[in-house]
Amino acid sequence: MSTEVPPSETPFVGKSVVTLDDLSRHQILELLHKAAYIDAHRREVSHTCDGRVLATLFYEPSTRTRLSFETAMLRLGGKVIGFAGAQLASVTKGESIADTIKTVSNYVDAIAIRHPKEGAALVASRAASVPVINAGDGGHMHPTQTLADLATLQSRFGRITDLTVGLCGDLTFGRTVHSLIETLCRFGNVRFVLISPDELKTPQYVIDRINATPSCSYVEVRDLVSVIGNLDVLYMTRVQKERFFNEDDYLRLRDTYILDEAKLSLAQPHMAVLHPLPRVNEIAVEVDDDPRAAYFEQVKNGMLMRMALESSVIGDELPGYVPLEPKEVQA
Ligand code: NCD
Repeated sequence: MSTEVPPSETPFVGKSVVTLDDLSRHQILELLHKAAYIDAHRREVSHTCDGRVLATLFYEPSTRTRLSFETAMLRLGGKVIGFAGAQLASVTKGESIADTIKTVSNYVDAIAIRHPKEGAALVASRAASVPVINAGDGGHMHPTQTLADLATLQSRFGRITDLTVGLCGDLTFGRTVHSLIETLCRFGNVRFVLISPDELKTPQYVIDRINATPSCSYVEVRDLVSVIGNLDVLYMTRVQKERFFNEDDYLRLRDTYILDEAKLSLAQPHMAVLHPLPRVNEIAVEVDDDPRAAYFEQVKNGMLMRMALESSVIGDELPGYVPLEPKEVQA
């Protein structure tokens, strides 16, 4: 029998986060609690990471995620180095991820990495001597987007369980969807409505996760209009053009779902519309002014959750913060 401690049970400081399974439920709830504290005490926390340096190694395009990781460290008093677009770095000379990470580990206190290959963040975490945070590995996982999503659910509903959650669009390649389902299953009591064309259905390993969770269930449907009225949350996604092998397939599928006011009029008044952004056509701009649109709140929550995560894995305490009592963890 293995005596190895599951990653989720190990202390926060020094921890790499490749998927949110690397954190315990208590640690995830602690991050939500910390993010709320940070939001209310921005000035007090602004020197938490004085003298620290974060590296953002982005081998794939990003606007929000990289700027969010960087702003988070800057707002904690730390500094940031890195590259965006691997063409600028030694990878073009043939350097492996492991060698880049071993090098950068000497410079910084934590690394955020985004890479087009599934598993790249895991490889990086094994090579690193500092915590590595996965900022998206191919079509696999995007744990910090899930932290932003959870914070948005918490602020809209006061809970992250007992919800009917529709996920719509590219469920095959949408890594944010995979991370979110994985994590919601750990807290339980979620009814998933998986809305996609046949070509873009949820991968089996994600479905297996729902099946392994007795308190969760799912249905797979193609039509958004017929289910929108049942949802508490509608999580829209972009069809992931960069992961298609064939341009024609992308063009055929990209506009399958467009959420507009007419469709939204069929939804419940309390429903929240989430989207990890960037959007292409899947949400009409007219929806932005609807109180149900929560996607720009997600952006703010992403920064706050990354502040909470970066300070936690580096091991810097937020001044004045009182930790969550273990007994407050309910799931
Ligand atoms: C997402 C991603 O990169 O997976 N964006 C993000 O990080 N907010 C979603 C996407 O690109 O469609």
